[in-house]
Amino acid sequence: MDLASCLRQEKLLHRALETVVRTNSESRVLQIVADTVSRMLDAPLVLVSAPDPEGWLLPRCSGGPVAKEGIERLRISVDTAAPEGRGATSLAFRDRRYVGSPAAPPYSPGVDLTPWRWHQSAFGLDYVAAFPLIHAQRRIVFGVLTCYLSRMQGPDEAQRRVVEGLACVAASALYRLALQEETLLSLVTALQERDGETQEHTFRVVRFSEQLAELLGWSNLEDLERLRWGAMLHDVGKICLPLAVLRKPGRLTGEEIHQVRRHAEVGYRIVQGLEGLGEARQFVRFHHERFDGEGYPCGLRGDAIPEGARILAVADAFDAMTSERPYRPALVYQRARAELRQAAGRQFDPRAVRAFCSVSPQEWERLRQAADRGVYSRYCLHRAGA
Ligand SMILES: [Fe+2]
Ligand SMILES: [Fe+2]
Repeated sequence: MDLASCLRQEKLLHRALETVVRTNSESRVLQIVADTVSRMLDAPLVLVSAPDPEGWLLPRCSGGPVAKEGIERLRISVDTAAPEGRGATSLAFRDRRYVGSPAAPPYSPGVDLTPWRWHQSAFGLDYVAAFPLIHAQRRIVFGVLTCYLSRMQGPDEAQRRVVEGLACVAASALYRLALQEETLLSLVTALQERDGETQEHTFRVVRFSEQLAELLGWSNLEDLERLRWGAMLHDVGKICLPLAVLRKPGRLTGEEIHQVRRHAEVGYRIVQGLEGLGEARQFVRFHHERFDGEGYPCGLRGDAIPEGARILAVADAFDAMTSERPYRPALVYQRARAELRQAAGRQFDPRAVRAFCSVSPQEWERLRQAADRGVYSRYCLHRAGA
């Protein structure tokens, strides 16, 4: 390698490390690593995949100049017996080591690897180099960084060492963020111990909010992460409410309603100092604002309410209506939908309600079940094998 490219590599690496150790966003860690490694190895495609609870490695992001359509459909199994589990990515994940091999995928016909095959033939991706994102001391594998190269040989020894180093730093950052996530989750659990409301309610609000946001055109992964945290912590302020009020089965008195309403502001004060949550803190604060300005705590109106908080309001209300309460049975889907429609433009953002109505009842049910199985979280430590 000549001096100029050496310096270029060093600069790239420096910039990546600086971001990885500072950021509070998992998506950002993965994206910067994918982009940097693509440039360092001159790889047309770099894919970062992470394990899901059902034994698949799913693409989380990609880097490199090759078009990425269809990449998100890729499913890599961690099971050697499965046809989708015989490639370098699953081997690197299972054996916790670097795997390099010529890209001759030993896949069975009939397995849907369309994006992979398309990329391979269109861009001549001839070699696969897969690096586990492994925490050096704890030996936790957070995912795999798979580099597709358009040459018949893998990275040389020096390049390999640099990428392995970067993968380790990324894994440490993911570990730090996972610990933060566990800490915040324990706050949610503490609330649930006091409140009759189930953990499932929180996870459903997370999943429903994500769905609505995607329909409303949210595509930035960091924004979606913030929304997820806003949804996760939306009612954390209720932790300060007296049990007699929190669990009261009947109607609340005027004074009690006043106490309950304080939870939005109290929740904001609890999370205010957590810089890493970014705008999620505003979502916690404003999730009870109304589109017509009649909500609380500030009486914000329309677009003055952050969009994430408007989305949360619809997701929260939908789940509250369709869940059983001590004082009333669950509403059926059709009733809940009618109520949301009726309140569009008054309590709720009409765009968020329209997005809600564009999803079939079957799909909402599927999301509800996925949330109840805990599919809301892709990055928890136990998922990574800690
Ligand atoms: Fe609330
Ligand atoms: Fe709620």
